[in-house]
Amino acid sequence: MTTFSDQDLHDIQGFGVAGFRKDHEEAIFVRFGDAVGGRRLLRLLQRRASSAWEVGTFNALFSEVRSRTGEEVLKATWVAVMLSASSYAQLGVPLTGLPAGEGTDAFAAGMAARKDRINDTRPQDAPEGWEAPFRPGSGGVHLAIVIGSDTWQDLDEEILRIRETVEQCHAKVVFAERGARLGGKGNAHEHFGFRDGGSQPAIEGYDLEPAEFEPPTVPAGEFVLGYPDALGNNAVTDPLWIRGSFVAFRRLAQDVLGFRRQTEAEVPGADPPLDPATMAAKMMGRWPSGAPLELNPDADPGQSHESNAFQYAADPFDDVDGQKCPRWAHIRKANPRDEATPTGEDNPALHRMIRRGIPYGEALPTTATDDTRQRERGLHFFAVVGDVARQFEFVQRQWLDDPNFPTGTPSESGGGYGPPPQGEPDGPDPVVGHHDAGDTCSLHQPGGHHPFQLLDEVVTATAGEYFFLPSLTALASLAQPS
Ligand code: HEM
Repeated sequence: MTTFSDQDLHDIQGFGVAGFRKDHEEAIFVRFGDAVGGRRLLRLLQRRASSAWEVGTFNALFSEVRSRTGEEVLKATWVAVMLSASSYAQLGVPLTGLPAGEGTDAFAAGMAARKDRINDTRPQDAPEGWEAPFRPGSGGVHLAIVIGSDTWQDLDEEILRIRETVEQCHAKVVFAERGARLGGKGNAHEHFGFRDGGSQPAIEGYDLEPAEFEPPTVPAGEFVLGYPDALGNNAVTDPLWIRGSFVAFRRLAQDVLGFRRQTEAEVPGADPPLDPATMAAKMMGRWPSGAPLELNPDADPGQSHESNAFQYAADPFDDVDGQKCPRWAHIRKANPRDEATPTGEDNPALHRMIRRGIPYGEALPTTATDDTRQRERGLHFFAVVGDVARQFEFVQRQWLDDPNFPTGTPSESGGGYGPPPQGEPDGPDPVVGHHDAGDTCSLHQPGGHHPFQLLDEVVTATAGEYFFLPSLTALASLAQPS
């Protein structure tokens, strides 16, 4: 089995590989009352959960009708059901069918317990300050249910149905929050003002073949268990886990005024000085329209330039020094593509993620000068992966957060980098990287390198958990008494 058959797609949930692509979303987190109610709840939810075949077929049809008529006439509401390790424990289901390794250990421990591996160690990110149900010692969250819909009305109806089902099964909704694409049709963006979600891995044999300079395809096993992954492993055969994926959920608050302040801060010695819009694009690696800096270094060319066909080092890009797209830009740290990376461990093919995020909270007006609701807007970040340690945790810790990546010296023991042999470190990702106020990034211009100071973190973790998105067959069998 190297990629998905039609039959597999009827069994794999649609949230990951197909993607709901909806403007309206609700994320509901549930705690079981007891194992019997928990199993009953899974049985009822299994009928609502959407398959990759349904979601993928709908997405293709939707696009075709829209391109022919210019109208969005088709509508659907999709549901995803995912379980944390504590829910498997509550149901008395051991994790022994999962491959031994750090990814399984991370899932079993839960995200809060992995705070040192993802640098959630500063007070503003620490699990002890997360939304109450996600805090260590709070009893945990058993299920995440994500509903995606084309209209608020359809979403509300589905929420009502699901909440009634949860109640009937003596379980409790412990946290729920709405997500929505900001900016409306054709102008969707996240809270800092950028189009998000455009660069997704192309799955071998499932997605279209990449065009020249787009990142190469990634084996299906990087995202769905039971298929060969980038290391050639496909150890999972247990029906409970096969055709399922891990999901790293993070509720990431966005300090929009803090982001704007950073874009307005002076970069000492910069020549020419950067205007705030250019600095914002340097921080992200793309312009608000989604156009990449690597292809459009000077100005935002506007919509329809959201290309993914670029690299950093190769001819004709030749941007090893990061003068067009800084080496600390969010997208360059998160997916270094053909970056001249220090060790084989940093091979980008081993660290891809399908991202299914959506903003929550109201947009902050561009004219706002103060913001008391700073922690109430942000991103419901969902990364769908085959290994949470090698993919999500590695990218957060070793790439986004590490100021010495990519030019630093790899440590002998693997894991982390020392400062580069020459020159100053590039710096952490100023948008999503953990850092302290006063840490530095270095802006590279033809006339020289200009270190500048970062202000406080503009993205902070306020909740999070690792989940497993089982196949529909596995959901049905979990619902049976053991
Ligand atoms: C509030 C937090 C975040 C915001 C506002 C944000 C925003 C963005 C934006 C605007 C893009 C460019 C558009 C695109 O390629 O989809 C992007 C790309 C990306 N982000 Fe984030 N992001 C956030 C958190 C994260 C986190 C926590 C990770 C991983 C640990 C991550 C990983 C990525 C990756 C892998 C890409 C694609 C890079 C590429 O392939 O070129 N992001 N993000």
